[in-house]
Amino acid sequence: MKIVQMSDVHVGSGLFRPELLSSAIEETNSLRPDLVAVVGDLTMEGYRWEFEEAKEYLNRIECENVVVAMGNHDARSVGYRHFEEFFGMRERATTILVPEGEAKVVVLDSTKPDLDEGEVGREHYAWLDSEFRGWDRGPKILMIHHHILAVPGTGRDVNNLRDAGDVMAILRELKVDMVLSGHRHVPYVWSISGVRIVHSGTVSSMRVRGTMAPSYNVIEFDPTRVEITLREPGKGEGEPLASFSREAVTTSEFYPAFDRFVTYDMLPFLKE
Ligand SMILES: [Fe+2]
Ligand SMILES: [Fe+2]
Repeated sequence: MKIVQMSDVHVGSGLFRPELLSSAIEETNSLRPDLVAVVGDLTMEGYRWEFEEAKEYLNRIECENVVVAMGNHDARSVGYRHFEEFFGMRERATTILVPEGEAKVVVLDSTKPDLDEGEVGREHYAWLDSEFRGWDRGPKILMIHHHILAVPGTGRDVNNLRDAGDVMAILRELKVDMVLSGHRHVPYVWSISGVRIVHSGTVSSMRVRGTMAPSYNVIEFDPTRVEITLREPGKGEGEPLASFSREAVTTSEFYPAFDRFVTYDMLPFLKE
């Protein structure tokens, strides 16, 4: 399966660069991916005209599966109302036919109106669990805008997912293959407890950090390996960002039951 991951388009910013987005879309079309995952911050202030313009660009992507997650900038100005009109449900699960079977893709809305920080929220845990538990037909992929783990090269770590610990425990329990995130505008990959967390940079804005250029990620699953390539729009083939074996390799086990930490509904000492 091939995925193009991009995020932080930021239409409406004075630092938005349309030529970068056009290049990224043209390159995406020539890659013929199974999934184009746009992981939030399509706009700057959540205004309707920004969503309209972002949608016009995304309409040029020639892929049956363009899945869009909402970012904190999109949640500004009650932007979620426009978001759903243009890009569909903010939280949903979808399945995609891929060469190795069927991928399950779950999209979460980690935003809170007019806040930059993110949260999944306990009320979503059971749904997340029900979508991934027992899925054995192909890759399990979560799309969420906010970063679960700190990203290096971004300065002070702010606005990470408020309930990152609970969410990580769920992803570990459910053996989710990959998390696709944006938000920090710096591409980076972590692999922790069998969960691969892939951050994309900003694809089409100069809201960059340090020397990190605008970029997007190309992810290829084959039966034995997963390869991630970092690409700068308009600059050709890109460079390797990360690779790992298809099956997660972990060298540690954690023994206590899942419900002791995340899905508890009764105090442990009150159980039989
Ligand atoms: Fe952003
Ligand atoms: Fe963001």
